[in-house]
Amino acid sequence: MCGIVGYIGKKEAFPILIKGLKWLEYRGYDSAGVALLNGSLEVYKKKGKVIEMEQFALSKNHSGTIGIGHTRWATHGEPSDENAHPQNSMNNVFTVVHNGIIENYAKLKTDLVKHSYTFKSDTDTEVLANLIDFFYHQDEGINSEMAVQLALSKVVGAYGIAVLCKNEKNKIVVARKGSPLVVGLGDGEYFIASDAAPIAEYTGQVVYLNDEDIAILQRDGFTLKNVSNNPVSLKISSIDLEIGELDKGDFDYFMMKEIYEQPKTIEETFRGRLRADHSEIVLGGLLNVFPKIEEARRIIIIGCGTSWHAALIGEYMLEEYAQVPVEVEYASEFRYRKPVINSKDVVILISQSGETADTLAALHLAKAKGATVIGICNVVGSTLARETDAGVYTHAGVEIGVASTKAFTAQVTVLTMIALKLANTKGTIDIKEYQTLVKELSEIPEKGRIILQSNDKIKAIAEKYHKAINALYLGRGYLFPVALEGALKLKEISYIHAEGYAAGEMKHGPIALVDDNLPVVVVAPQDDYYEKIVSNIQEIKARKGNVIAIVTEGDTGLKELANDVIEIPKSHPALAVLLSVIPLQLLAYHIALFKGCNVDQPRNLAKSVTVE
Ligand code: AGP
Repeated sequence: MCGIVGYIGKKEAFPILIKGLKWLEYRGYDSAGVALLNGSLEVYKKKGKVIEMEQFALSKNHSGTIGIGHTRWATHGEPSDENAHPQNSMNNVFTVVHNGIIENYAKLKTDLVKHSYTFKSDTDTEVLANLIDFFYHQDEGINSEMAVQLALSKVVGAYGIAVLCKNEKNKIVVARKGSPLVVGLGDGEYFIASDAAPIAEYTGQVVYLNDEDIAILQRDGFTLKNVSNNPVSLKISSIDLEIGELDKGDFDYFMMKEIYEQPKTIEETFRGRLRADHSEIVLGGLLNVFPKIEEARRIIIIGCGTSWHAALIGEYMLEEYAQVPVEVEYASEFRYRKPVINSKDVVILISQSGETADTLAALHLAKAKGATVIGICNVVGSTLARETDAGVYTHAGVEIGVASTKAFTAQVTVLTMIALKLANTKGTIDIKEYQTLVKELSEIPEKGRIILQSNDKIKAIAEKYHKAINALYLGRGYLFPVALEGALKLKEISYIHAEGYAAGEMKHGPIALVDDNLPVVVVAPQDDYYEKIVSNIQEIKARKGNVIAIVTEGDTGLKELANDVIEIPKSHPALAVLLSVIPLQLLAYHIALFKGCNVDQPRNLAKSVTVE
């Protein structure tokens, strides 16, 4: 939920920290700050975006070749200058940036007050800074990393931290448990970040810290151990990020860039996995567990938000084609409700970031109960990718926009391949239908490019409805989760209350909402449910509702009936998901812009929910 950066080396730290924070702002953006160790320990922090803190710091002494920085999504304490990170210890010996939640901070704070510590902020991080200081001053022989270890041994909760000590000017101490941290290895310099994006332009060699790792970064070296002081084996990975992925190019917002990337990212996701003759699907990342999937008593698919919507698509496909029982769970519910899990279960966890706290907790629970756990993830080296038994990367590239778009279609592409591969292996799908679906999947990118040509038309429809207070999204079958996803896109970037519903549910309540102020988006391509959803549209029109229908191109009937139609190319019903979601993404994008919203950084949200 927050972004952390750090630098130690030969260059001026400030510009590196600022640039890194701007890459991480999608993780949280209610306040920002930097700390620099030059002759003294300088801390500059402000409520608001990184650029506001940058302007403030530029007027101060921001020199120094070692520093840390933070951009915040508030958990404890409202967004304010005082609650911004870095947080100093009472005597300003230590300064800390932190991503996570210290659950026992109140007890620790009470104990520190008994030792005459005072506090300026409402944050749990200031408690950690004072706790480190407390241990540091217990004995002359305790240095900063030892103080950090002792303090963290008392902490309950999740943390990704970077710590500076003004008495040790050649050192940054970093540690993680539950919140991601990456260390970039340069030539006589080291970089720290919450994910690889800010590091990619400086070095391709990184170390992804694991839970309870502590790293001590000095100009002449890098030591890795764990909170129990045992050495940790160093696993150096390569970043496969192209710098070009990290800018908006010709687009005004990352979200629009990522919507337009989808034909390419769907292609990248199935590249090398769909055989040209449509005979075989190759998922190398599942090779070691595929027999487990074949013999699974049931498959449980778990995720949050958009990833949960993708999970619903996976359920429909796996049950229809592979005839395996599937359950879909919100990670935040699964982790607490005492589910019945055993070794005959396969659990698929979907996460774009691979760092969502609830999803990781669900992973750990399923693993502890003996299930085979599989990840579908978009971030190489993320915690989910490293802690599952096997998995499939979505190859969508860095997704910066908080509203997930290309990651969703990539997740659905992976789930489609898993379902078809399993069905073909088990012999539960007719070979002709299997080959048709594989062939049609390979044709989706071109059909997606055709839909993107409707952008101006969709923008005009958005202008008509951007003043709506509420909206309803309806779909049936595979397109019911698409309706849910379309509603989520609209609500999270335009702040219009939008609900997704199974169209068949209309008469059980939601139809009471329908009047001439309510836009109703109906995902209605020509499929097995077509006649039924046309009836739903007629019911809505009879009550003066305004219908925006996503239709199969050439559908003249619905063109007459609906107020507005957006056409998508004909496709197999199971693959219409990948096409029908694109107009909904564009509709939400344009409505949000007409409302003057920041589509890349919507209020109250962050890209990666690494705290509960
Ligand atoms: C989707 O647009 C949202 N940003 C949010 O619902 C997101 O899908 C959810 O937080 C899960 O994130 P993950 O895929 O990184 O786990």
